[in-house]
Amino acid sequence: MNTILNERKDNTVYEAQSQSTESHNSIFETNDLNLWYGNTQALKNINLQIPEKKITAIIGPSGCGKSTFIKTLNRMVEMVPIVKTSGDIKYNGTNILNRDFQVEDLRTKVGMVFQKPNPFPKSVYDNIAYGPRIHGIKNKKVLDEIVEKSLRDAFIWDEVKDRLKENAYGLSGGQQQRVCIARCLAIEPEVILMDEPTSALDPISTSKVEELVQELKKKYSIIIVTHNMQQAARISDKTAFFLNGEVVEYNDTETLFSNPSDQRTEDYITGRFG
Ligand SMILES: Nc1ncnc2c1ncn2[C@@H]1O[C@H](COP(=O)(O)OP(=O)(O)O)[C@@H](O)[C@H]1O
Ligand SMILES: [Mg+2]
Repeated sequence: MNTILNERKDNTVYEAQSQSTESHNSIFETNDLNLWYGNTQALKNINLQIPEKKITAIIGPSGCGKSTFIKTLNRMVEMVPIVKTSGDIKYNGTNILNRDFQVEDLRTKVGMVFQKPNPFPKSVYDNIAYGPRIHGIKNKKVLDEIVEKSLRDAFIWDEVKDRLKENAYGLSGGQQQRVCIARCLAIEPEVILMDEPTSALDPISTSKVEELVQELKKKYSIIIVTHNMQQAARISDKTAFFLNGEVVEYNDTETLFSNPSDQRTEDYITGRFG
């Protein structure tokens, strides 16, 4: 399976000993998390500790619960009225599934980027300024600074700096996705959830977004759903393999791909199903 790992760009040298001794703070920790859509159980006893300022990949075949899982992390999944959950999800130690938990605050701390770029039908500038304005920032100079910084941090400033007043719909798909990432950065989140953010993009745009994601982990904790295993192997630190709503295996990415401990993981990563 080293063919997958060898595609990594960062020439990381893995030391076997560092895997067991390394410990990181968890940004999210789920305990016996279950989720049902009506009578259909979509998540089963999920116990995951997601490290801070790392990239965690969620892989697995279609319908295994990847999107459902990441949407529970900012409680967006509740927009489907038939959803029921049990267990808990600790975000920085606080159980976000508690009835009295303030979800608005969570949503500003945990941003999300979707499969299809979904800019607002507004100018590039107004897309980025949208969140800060909602949070009460009106000063033009401050907004200008946030817009520029967010676009720079999303590796898209040079391409759009002369097009800030143009409608974001006029940009290419790959540019739109980086504008969506910039929009997410503008509200200064702690965590960025990404649901197959490159699956609608061409290979060049995909590699730009992958580079960007690796840069972003210096400041943010990133959880990325992908059904592209090469992508998971290239960019992530940790990988969780989901199957039928369960986590089959969760480990350092390098270990999961080179030495999977479950036969189903091995079958999936070697392309026997999925
Ligand atoms: N809004 C919904 N209502 C009912 N069932 C849903 C809904 N969304 C997802 N599901 C079901 O939950 C399971 C997991 O779906 P999903 O999380 O979208 O998987 P993945 O992202 O891995 O493809 C599937 O069986 C799917 O049919
Ligand atoms: Mg999905």
